[in-house]
Amino acid sequence: MELTQWATQWITGGRSTFHRAGKRPSLCRCKTFRVAVLRTLCSWVCFTALVCALFLLLGVCFLNLFDPRLQPLSLTGVEPRDVTLLLWTHPFGQYRRLPDCEARFGIRGCVLTDDRRMYPGADAIIMHHREIATNATALPSDPRPRGQKWIWMNFESPSHTRGLRRFEGLFNLTMTYRADSDIFLPYGYLVTRLHPHANAPHTRPRRLHLLAWVISNWSESQARVAYYRRLVNYVDVDVFGRAGVPLPEDSTVVRTVRRYLFYLALENSQHTDYITEKLWNSLLAGAVPVVFGPPRENYERFLPHDAFIHVDDFPSPHLLAQYLMLLRRSPSLLQRHLAWRRSYSVHLTAFWAEHYCTACRVVRNHRLRTDTITNLQRWFES
Ligand SMILES: *[C@@H]1O[C@H](CO)[C@@H](O)[C@H](O)[C@H]1NC(C)=O
Ligand SMILES: *[C@@H]1O[C@H](CO)[C@@H](O)[C@H](O)[C@H]1NC(C)=O
Ligand SMILES: *[C@@H]1O[C@H](CO)[C@@H](O)[C@H](O)[C@H]1NC(C)=O
Repeated sequence: MELTQWATQWITGGRSTFHRAGKRPSLCRCKTFRVAVLRTLCSWVCFTALVCALFLLLGVCFLNLFDPRLQPLSLTGVEPRDVTLLLWTHPFGQYRRLPDCEARFGIRGCVLTDDRRMYPGADAIIMHHREIATNATALPSDPRPRGQKWIWMNFESPSHTRGLRRFEGLFNLTMTYRADSDIFLPYGYLVTRLHPHANAPHTRPRRLHLLAWVISNWSESQARVAYYRRLVNYVDVDVFGRAGVPLPEDSTVVRTVRRYLFYLALENSQHTDYITEKLWNSLLAGAVPVVFGPPRENYERFLPHDAFIHVDDFPSPHLLAQYLMLLRRSPSLLQRHLAWRRSYSVHLTAFWAEHYCTACRVVRNHRLRTDTITNLQRWFES
């Protein structure tokens, strides 16, 4: 039965299943009563809907306020106040000038400092894992000012991150390459092109060489080295770096790899989201990366399906080698792995300037939130 029909019948006491069996009350009194009930019902529905809409609106606003990907935004249109970030140690003891976040990244309201005398007034402290874990530096000894956030910063994989247990319940924010960090920064990322290139750079390169690999830390115990040893039985690999031919002095990894069709982007250990500059250098150089790291699905969170070749796509190194040689012979097949370049450009994350400024942006948006990381080890190693 149509809703309007049903309502009319109900008000006028028309035949409804509910009334059919009972004794029909007088039509007149019943009608007035029903109109009143319907009115009350109506106003309640309207009121509830209004309240719900209000809550929804508030919810959306709060979500936006705490979304680290968004620039600071406040309901009143007033910018959040400046935040002071203290860098406790320069990572690995290598001094670098602190960046001007507004000039470099358009991130406003950041005061960055490495002067520890600023500790009492700092909104947040960035602590790089290596130095605090090896006791190269002590943690702050003064009591922590109210509201100050300690940020755990680490871009090494769990295999190269020791001594996590000591730091449970100490930090308020995590900052790593993992997508589920409070402050997330991968080693690189794709940027959507505003105007898709018909002829993106590197789509039709003149590449004379087949396959390159740049490796500095060669260890027979690494899975990537074992894979290389099997692969090299079927295809030539030009190895550069400390373990192979030294990179030409006037050249960078990217410039060297530009002459190649393919590049081995083999991670030193296999962990969630641990996809390093090896991959992004390769993409930047226009070589199709052959990746060895977390599973394919993990890479696909950051890259289009065809932008890379995963070693797991092939049952054996032999079949992978055959596929690479097939691609060399058939430009149209190879094109499948390059087509994404029309829509995206590659951004290599700037160590460490981009990290500090990203941290500042998130801290600015998180100013009022309190949190303590109590499962650092379990989370990071998962
Ligand atoms: C650093 O110091 C802490 C506390 O004194 C100690 O428990 C830890 O074993 C030390 N770590 C290293 C790597 O020396
Ligand atoms: C080199 O690799 C070995 C074995 O995987 C590892 O123990 C060591 O920490 C690595 N060194 C660097 C500098 O990454
Ligand atoms: C940060 O964590 C510490 C240690 O658990 C805690 O005492 C403090 O209240 C937290 N601060 C914020 C702002 O979340």
